[in-house]
Amino acid sequence: MSVALDGPAGVGNSIFAKKKEKRMNLIYIDTGAMYRAMALFLIRSGVGAYNSMGISLESQRAEISLTYENGEMVVWLNGEDVTGLIRTEEVGNMASKSSVNADVRKKLVSLQQNMAAEADVIMDGRDIGTCVLPNADIKVYLTADSFVRATRRFEELTAKGIACDIGKIEEDIIERDYRDMHRELNPLKQAEDAVVVDSSYMSIEEVVETISEMIAKKKNGEA
Ligand code: DC
Repeated sequence: MSVALDGPAGVGNSIFAKKKEKRMNLIYIDTGAMYRAMALFLIRSGVGAYNSMGISLESQRAEISLTYENGEMVVWLNGEDVTGLIRTEEVGNMASKSSVNADVRKKLVSLQQNMAAEADVIMDGRDIGTCVLPNADIKVYLTADSFVRATRRFEELTAKGIACDIGKIEEDIIERDYRDMHRELNPLKQAEDAVVVDSSYMSIEEVVETISEMIAKKKNGEA
């Protein structure tokens, strides 16, 4: 069973990172975390966000993997646990820029396809239904209004005691959406056979319930 979950920044992972998918019996794979780990590596290497040759070369030295400990996803970069280091705005913005690079995408897409071949997954990203898993059993395009997403992010950061400005967060979200949707390679777009779920006015529970129902129907041969 494979579920492709695509959508703009800050929808899927803000829902599923908090909710482990025990009910669905699927492994949740946040592919954005892989692009973020790569971005952290590139920031540390000092490669400029627009130096495509440098990014192509440097990216080949990054070994990225995901493991699960007590149901929690752990992100590894060259043997270092970077789970706690990749959620900053700086890393997110670099990830959005460096993910346009063809060599970065090739490397991470192939890793993601290997992961899906080994387990039942719900894979969250931008290009999962259109490129990584074109034959996914279920495709969901999960979206939410940019202000709602900014509010969720603001609450998340504030809860961690991080000072932030909600207007700036929304601005960044809109800019990132534009970049993700307009890049040349595998831009974010709804797959033709994807079901749209607008989570703007849904609770986390309702989103999980909606997707769980789709999976149950598929398993029962109803969809
Ligand atoms: O989901 P996120 O915000 O953590 O992702 C960070 C960036 O990674 C996002 O701006 C674009 C990129 N990304 C991608 O290009 N393809 C994916 N499948 C997932 C993320």
